[in-house]
Amino acid sequence: MKLFYLLTLPLLLLSPVITAANNLEYEYIVVGSGAGGGPVACRLARNGHRTLLIEAGNDQSDNLNTTVPGYEGIVTEDPAVRWDIFVNHYEDQTRAQRDPKYTWETAPFEYHVGPNPPKGAKPRGILYPRAQSLGGCTTHNALIWITAHDSDWDNIASLTGDTSWTHDNMGQYLQKVNEWLHVEPTDPTILVSDQQLTQHCVAGAAALGEGPEPVNAVRGFANLLANDPNSQINPARDSTQGFFQVPLTMTAGNRSSVTDFIRSTVAEGFPLDVRTNSFVTKITFDQSGAIPKATGVEFQDGEYLYRASPRSLNSRPGKPGSAEATKELIISAGAYNTPQLLKLSGVGPKRELEKFNISVVKDLPGVGTNLMDRYEIPVNVRHNKDFSILDGCTFDGKPHDECLKKWENNPYVLSQRGAYATNGLAATLAVTSKYASSSNIDMFIFGGPGNFQGYFPGWAEQVTADHSHFSWYTLKAHTRNHAGTVELQSTDPFDQPKINFNYFDTGTTVGGADDLDADSIVQAINISRNALSEYYNYDILGGSPFVEESPGQEVAGDVELKQYVKDVAWGHHASCTAPIGATNDPLAVLDSEFRVHGVQNLRVVDASVFPEIPGVFIMAPIYVVSEKAADVILNGLR
Ligand SMILES: Cc1cc2nc3c(=O)[nH]c(=O)nc-3n(C[C@H](O)[C@H](O)[C@H](O)COP(=O)(O)OP(=O)(O)OC[C@H]3O[C@@H](n4cnc5c(N)ncnc54)[C@H](O)[C@@H]3O)c2cc1C
Ligand SMILES: *[C@@H]1O[C@H](CO)[C@@H](O)[C@H](O)[C@H]1NC(C)=O
Ligand SMILES: *[C@@H]1O[C@H](CO)[C@@H](O)[C@H](O)[C@H]1NC(C)=O
Ligand SMILES: *[C@@H]1O[C@H](CO)[C@@H](O)[C@H](O)[C@H]1NC(C)=O
Ligand SMILES: *[C@@H]1O[C@H](CO)[C@@H](O)[C@H](O)[C@H]1NC(C)=O
Repeated sequence: MKLFYLLTLPLLLLSPVITAANNLEYEYIVVGSGAGGGPVACRLARNGHRTLLIEAGNDQSDNLNTTVPGYEGIVTEDPAVRWDIFVNHYEDQTRAQRDPKYTWETAPFEYHVGPNPPKGAKPRGILYPRAQSLGGCTTHNALIWITAHDSDWDNIASLTGDTSWTHDNMGQYLQKVNEWLHVEPTDPTILVSDQQLTQHCVAGAAALGEGPEPVNAVRGFANLLANDPNSQINPARDSTQGFFQVPLTMTAGNRSSVTDFIRSTVAEGFPLDVRTNSFVTKITFDQSGAIPKATGVEFQDGEYLYRASPRSLNSRPGKPGSAEATKELIISAGAYNTPQLLKLSGVGPKRELEKFNISVVKDLPGVGTNLMDRYEIPVNVRHNKDFSILDGCTFDGKPHDECLKKWENNPYVLSQRGAYATNGLAATLAVTSKYASSSNIDMFIFGGPGNFQGYFPGWAEQVTADHSHFSWYTLKAHTRNHAGTVELQSTDPFDQPKINFNYFDTGTTVGGADDLDADSIVQAINISRNALSEYYNYDILGGSPFVEESPGQEVAGDVELKQYVKDVAWGHHASCTAPIGATNDPLAVLDSEFRVHGVQNLRVVDASVFPEIPGVFIMAPIYVVSEKAADVILNGLR
């Protein structure tokens, strides 16, 4: 009986709406159920408004890949969830191919990674994992929860003159997120059980001058893990450097996300219809008045219609339908799909739309510009001995996966659930680089067992192929490059757009922006290497020796390291492609209340809305923004 209930509940809750597909009418329609669309849709429904949430993917809550934090790698390769988006870091393909992650397609969804592709292989670029599913990328991301910096909000307030964006006022929206989202760090006992791992972590602390006495290393490490990088009591939190735990969106070792909030909103009977397996192809407008008014959407019902999904190869043609929004339409399709959908619907740069014979509803030159991201880079070493924390972990969900058994057999005691009750990143060093534009932390240097080198087909297998690698891996925040673009490739809504990041010197260079970003990452590599040399001061813990594999000791000196950074850096927080901006900024797409300029009844709420990439991680700021959007919509104008 209980099993029956568990298996059928999601089906009952989320089976497609029964209303005739061509006669749907709602007050609000939200397109995309990820970090941006999920919360606002729930809040609107919870306040009594008939709301339709349309999602290309389906509910994968029952899929262990989305539930087990330790599967954060393989879930990005799960064909039930994944979209293989490819991007260019550099438009110049010769330069782009200096990256060993550069990928070629040999047959549909079969790839060759790196140089010397077989004859006839099609150049694709760099893999950028995305998820189609209820909850969007929050069902496959790395669970890391780092809240925004105060200045992220204050900058929007000063840019727009809308004081509701000041950090003082934004605090309430974080509290609203905390009403439905649970966050907890990895249980320290799971981490300290591995002395080789502990040895690396205390060495990292030592590189920042916080290392405990070697004889006291285990207790010292456990104490350091009490440091919360989101501290709400430390007034200097945004600029506090040091060694920190990694807070994760988990409930007792299960992934938690907005998917849970959506499911409970439906289960509790609020007027939220969730239309999964439904892909929006167009926003419809009433153009009879002086200002075009968004009236609804056209969609196609069907599984895996977007061609970035490997399952699109076998998908049946979609069944067209449409829905009307009597109040407003909210686009939350993510930093790539939101600008694509706006453009396909006639809202975007006139010249680009005309090139594709799309009739222009509103010429908005900023749509699909200003694409931003972090830069990330690893320093990886290989040991003589395995990390014991990974003993028995096969990361494949098969019956022989001992770590899965441990996770499944101890559902309530986090400390007993083992390596899968963590995303694998044991701790982080937070640093303000010498090249930062403010005192805010601009580098997180994560330590964890694994061989993480960025994203490419098969990346997750490589991370855990053996258990003897360790990585200090840097995420550079508050990057300065605004030069990325998302452009149409065709007028077919199921084709992915053309995405160019224009990294480093091919992007924003004013004031030496590109050098400052690259130099800070070189500094982070230096710090990582200092941490690795401190390791041997803690030999009392019995960890084995290691060799550096990447970049490799031979890559030394600022010039060589900078070239390495430019060749291999990657990102995974794509954002800012439909930015909020000043009223007089011709490239602003949204006003401070998420309204698309020049049209009525249309808002954007997702990673696209930021004028500047916020904080160090982006899921938390997006959830917060989504709660703010709900408040703005529900409580009207300022
Ligand atoms: C591998 C990886 C790891 C990450 N790890 C972290 C992390 O640890 N911490 C962190 O803070 N951030 C992380 N991120 C980033 C973060 O998860 C995303 O930035 C965030 O989820 C983006 O939210 P969004 O609402 O803008 O878009 P999404 O979450 O992508 O949601 C968009 C949704 O819209 C749907 N959709 C798109 N187009 C249509 C259409 N036309 N019709 C219907 N539906 C449509 C999609 O299916 C999707 O479900 C990670 C990202 C990746 C790729
Ligand atoms: C999890 O994802 C992998 C691919 O990364 C896939 O092979 C496996 O079948 C998925 N597991 C489940 C339970 O769907
Ligand atoms: C965690 O996930 C497992 C597997 O999906 C499920 O059986 C269990 O009920 C979940 N626990 C919580 C607290 O949600
Ligand atoms: C646009 O329309 C013109 C004239 O009908 C046609 O020649 C051209 O091929 C069209 N372009 C596209 C991209 O469809
Ligand atoms: C990195 O360390 C090297 C060697 O100590 C030093 O010469 C260099 O200036 C450092 N680079 C940065 C960017 O901090």
